[in-house]
Amino acid sequence: MTSFGAAPSGDHLSPSTRSGYEKIPWWQRVIIYEIATISFQDSNGDGKGDLAGLLSRTDYLEWLGIGAVWLTPVYPSPMLDLGYDIADYCAIDPTFGTLDFDRLIQELHQRDIRLILDFVPNHTSDQHPWFLESRSSRRNPKRDWYIWADPSDNGGPPNNWQSRFSGSAWQWDDTTGQYYYHSFLREQPDLNWRSPAVREAMAEVLRFWMKRGVDGFRVDASAVLAKDELLRDNPVDPEADESKPPPQRYKNTFTDDRPEAMTYLADLRKVVGEFDERMLCGEVQGKTDRIGHFYGQDNPRLHLPLNFALLDSPWDAISLQANIDAYLNAIPDKAWPDWVVGGHDKHRIASKLGQAQARNLAMLLLTLKGTPFFYAGDELGMEQITIPADRVTDPFEKLVPGYDLNRDPERAPMRWDDSLNGGFSKGEPWLPMGLGVAERNVAVLQKDDRSLLQLYKRLIALRVSEPGLIVGDYVPVPSRNDILTYRRVVDGEAIFVALNLVPEARRLTWQGAGRLLLTTHLDQFHGERVRGPLLLRPDEGVVIKLKD
Ligand code: GLC
Repeated sequence: MTSFGAAPSGDHLSPSTRSGYEKIPWWQRVIIYEIATISFQDSNGDGKGDLAGLLSRTDYLEWLGIGAVWLTPVYPSPMLDLGYDIADYCAIDPTFGTLDFDRLIQELHQRDIRLILDFVPNHTSDQHPWFLESRSSRRNPKRDWYIWADPSDNGGPPNNWQSRFSGSAWQWDDTTGQYYYHSFLREQPDLNWRSPAVREAMAEVLRFWMKRGVDGFRVDASAVLAKDELLRDNPVDPEADESKPPPQRYKNTFTDDRPEAMTYLADLRKVVGEFDERMLCGEVQGKTDRIGHFYGQDNPRLHLPLNFALLDSPWDAISLQANIDAYLNAIPDKAWPDWVVGGHDKHRIASKLGQAQARNLAMLLLTLKGTPFFYAGDELGMEQITIPADRVTDPFEKLVPGYDLNRDPERAPMRWDDSLNGGFSKGEPWLPMGLGVAERNVAVLQKDDRSLLQLYKRLIALRVSEPGLIVGDYVPVPSRNDILTYRRVVDGEAIFVALNLVPEARRLTWQGAGRLLLTTHLDQFHGERVRGPLLLRPDEGVVIKLKD
């Protein structure tokens, strides 16, 4: 395990002194890139990505224009759930940490890249010393750090609450003759956030990492932090059908989104506010219309509750335009939006849309108003890989097979080149690499001027040269004829975006004139004068700077 020396001083990024849009907080300005650490780059041949591997790939992050990386958990863990079962919040697991963590932060900061850690406040591993103490006796001082309850009158679990990963969320414990509660695996007991001591211990975890220079946190499962104190049964969801796994056939009225959880998030925000320029984003689950609560109004909660509206929307111009509006209407005035198009729990978007439309998705993500999040490999158009039955690692798939819930297919290792295992590892990768590594990898796509990877890079660079894409208002233009349209407007300047979402040419009945800044096809002279109406080619998206 990596041991920590004295916390480094003064290596934190200083506030930007440049002018204009760069005065806005960094987390409104940057691209946030999620890295499943175990799948990014292995340095020691054990088939698992690690921090030394990541350190060796910082050139790539800088080349692409990434402004912040969010790492999935790197803490000591039995790794039953990709490290979301944490046994020590303030150390690095030996799998990841063969080097001093501080070096990684320094290296990233030198390149103007922020570091966001995953913060998992809802539950620990059952191997965490806190839980070992808690379960040792009813009189242990840490007993109330977790949620313990007596059996119901019939001797079964205290109520009908279901684990997200199937079955009752209550686990019987023989030693002390009570049940404990687990929202996820039984090896992931939930902490009891009603305990002030737990809240203080978790605040200290945040401070520990912020003192080391960490710029922000992604709060895992923030919606489930508090559960109903009366342990009332959840009602059956009348809209749920057999196509959903059993836990999802209940409404989570008494386990999710409780008012107390919102208070706890506001408390965490205050802790983050003790340090300069730090940011809290978080997984909020649930429907778009609930997302606004997670920002908070007078008592701020998360800076960026993660928004999956683009991933979940049907891929047509009318639905997308409506879903974009629904989300923007659901967040408080002045709240800063965000858009997430990939992640370690989400099926790869390129598999859903196909490679041609994955280019429009990139253009959409990087030209909407709000902080863009994507997941390592999305910029290569990585798709779901096939996992043979004997290689399944995801507990979700193991516990509820057959519901298309397996998350391994989106967690396959990054492909860097066409050498052994795509350059990811000299050993057997922890998950299969999948097909087509030789054709779709960083090195190949970097050499191809028109690749999706180059499109990502160009779009990211465009946001810097056209700050209207970052700060400009989102102004919808009625979408017609399978073309999604909107403008971004700031200081009298306007940028027009039109995305043809079908594989056939479509006429854009737009009457304006301007300069073409980018086409998803990357084959036209940029800066060329264009005048509407335009014929968009199959699957083509364009960004046009309008004349005044
Ligand atoms: C979050 C994580 C997911 C994990 C779960 C339990 O939803 O994103 O990967 O399985 O929490 O920690």
